[in-house]
Amino acid sequence: MKMPPVEPYRIRMVEPVRLLPKEERLKRLNEASWNVFRLRSEDIFIDLLTDSGTGAMSIYQWAALMMGDEAYAGARSWFKFEEAVRDVLGIEYVLPVHQGRAAERILYTTLMDKRNAKIVPANTHFDTGRAVILNHGGKPLDLPVPEAKNPKLEAPFKGDMDTSALKKLIEKEGADKIAFILLVLTNNTIGGQPVSMDNIKAVKEISEEYNIPLVMDICRFAENAYFIKIRDERYRNKSVGEIVKEMLSYGDHFIMSAKKDGLANIGGFIGTRSRELYEELAGRVVLEEGFITYGGLAGRDLEAIAQGLREVVDEDYLKHRIEQVKYFGELMEELGVPVIKPIGGHAVYVDALEAVPHIPREQFPADALAAFLYLESGVRAVGLGALAFAREENGKIIYPDFELLRLAVPRRTYTSSQLEYVARSLASLLEKKEKIKGLKIVWEPKVKGVRHFLAKLAPVEKVSL
Ligand code: F0G
Repeated sequence: MKMPPVEPYRIRMVEPVRLLPKEERLKRLNEASWNVFRLRSEDIFIDLLTDSGTGAMSIYQWAALMMGDEAYAGARSWFKFEEAVRDVLGIEYVLPVHQGRAAERILYTTLMDKRNAKIVPANTHFDTGRAVILNHGGKPLDLPVPEAKNPKLEAPFKGDMDTSALKKLIEKEGADKIAFILLVLTNNTIGGQPVSMDNIKAVKEISEEYNIPLVMDICRFAENAYFIKIRDERYRNKSVGEIVKEMLSYGDHFIMSAKKDGLANIGGFIGTRSRELYEELAGRVVLEEGFITYGGLAGRDLEAIAQGLREVVDEDYLKHRIEQVKYFGELMEELGVPVIKPIGGHAVYVDALEAVPHIPREQFPADALAAFLYLESGVRAVGLGALAFAREENGKIIYPDFELLRLAVPRRTYTSSQLEYVARSLASLLEKKEKIKGLKIVWEPKVKGVRHFLAKLAPVEKVSL
C-alpha cells in the first residue's frame, strides 16, 4: 500500500466542514449561477479553489499576531517585516501592499508608463497580472517553452520561458517597446511548474543585453526553490534559503502575494533593487494603499507575514508540501484522471480537453467540470481555460493552449484522506462524464480579464441528478 506523506505538524484547532445532500448542492449551484466563485464557502465540503490566503498559520504566527504594533507610521511590526524580507529574500527595498494584485497594479503600470511601452512578455501571465496590463492598454504575451504545451511530457522545468522566442520578439518589436520581462515563479497558469536556475540566468542575460527590466512574480518562491533543489543536482547540497537568494539575485523588481508563500491570509509587497524606483513607487503606495510602513495591512498582518516568510523555507515543511500535492496528483492519475505532468507545486491540474472531450471549447469545459465536480462531491476547484484567458483578435476568438481544472491545495490545511476523497470523487464523476454538460454565459462584467471571477453561467442542457 502506498503511504501518504506524513504531516510535519499536528492540528490544534479545527474548523468543521459538512457535505450537503446532492439536491441541495444543485440548488446552491443554480443560486450561484453555475460559477463556483459565487458559491458560499459554508456550502463547500473541501475547498480547492485556491491556495491563496487559505492556508493554516502556525502557533508562532498566531503568537506573532499579538505583537502587532498598529501605529500608522514606523510601527515595530514594519521593521520586523522589512528585516524578514531582507533576510529571507535578499531584497533591499520593500513596500507593503494589501495583496499581490495591488503590487502588480502599482509596479506594472509604473514601469509601462515610465518606459512608454506596452508589451510585456512572460513565461506565462497569471490572471490578475494579465488583467492589470490589459486594462492599462498593454499587451501581455505568453512565451512558455515548447515542452510546456505537451501535458503528458515529464520534464523538470516546464515553467521556463522560451528565450529564443523572447529574443526574436525583442528584435522584431524593438527593446524600447517592451515595458518589462516577467518571470512567474512557479508558473501558475500552465500547471504550477517551476522555472530553472539556468532559465532565470538566461532571461537575466537578455534583459541586461537589451536594457529591459526583469520583474519576478515571487508568490511561490519557496516552492520554486525546492524544485530546483530536488531536480537540479548542482543544487542538491544547497539549502533552500541559499537557492532562494540566488534565484532572486537575478531580478530587478518583484511582486509578491504573501497569501501564498508568505503563509499568511492577506498581504503582499513590491520589492526592488533600485532606490530611484522605490522612491517613485512609494508615493503611489501612500496614495493607493496606505503609508509606506503598512501599505493597507494591519501591524498584526505584517507580523504574520514576517514569521511566515521565515517558516516557508523550512525544508521539512516544503518536502511535505510538494510530496502531498504529488501524492494527490498521482492518485488521480492511477484512477484514470488525465493530469498535467509532472505534478505542480501548489495544485494538480486536470486536462479538461481530454477529461470531457464531448464539451466544445465555446462551452467552457474546464468551468463545466468545476461546476459538476461541486455537484458530484461538494468539492470546489477552479477552471482555467477559455472563460479566463480567451481573447478576441480581429473578430476571431483565440483560445488559450489549455483548458484546465485546477485543484489547488491550501498550505497545512487538508489531510491526505480529504485529498483522497477529492481524487476518488473526480474519478467517479469522469466515469459518467456524459452527465457533464457545457456552460453558456448569461452575463459578464465589462472590466477586461476578470470574466471568470464574475460571469453568470448556465448549463446548455437540462441537468439531471
Ligand atoms: N501572481 C500569481 C502568480 C498569482 O497566482 C496570484 C494570485 C497573484 C499574482 C495575485 O495575488 O491574489 O494576492 O492579489 N493567485 C491566486 C490563485 C488568487 O488562485 O492562484 P493576490
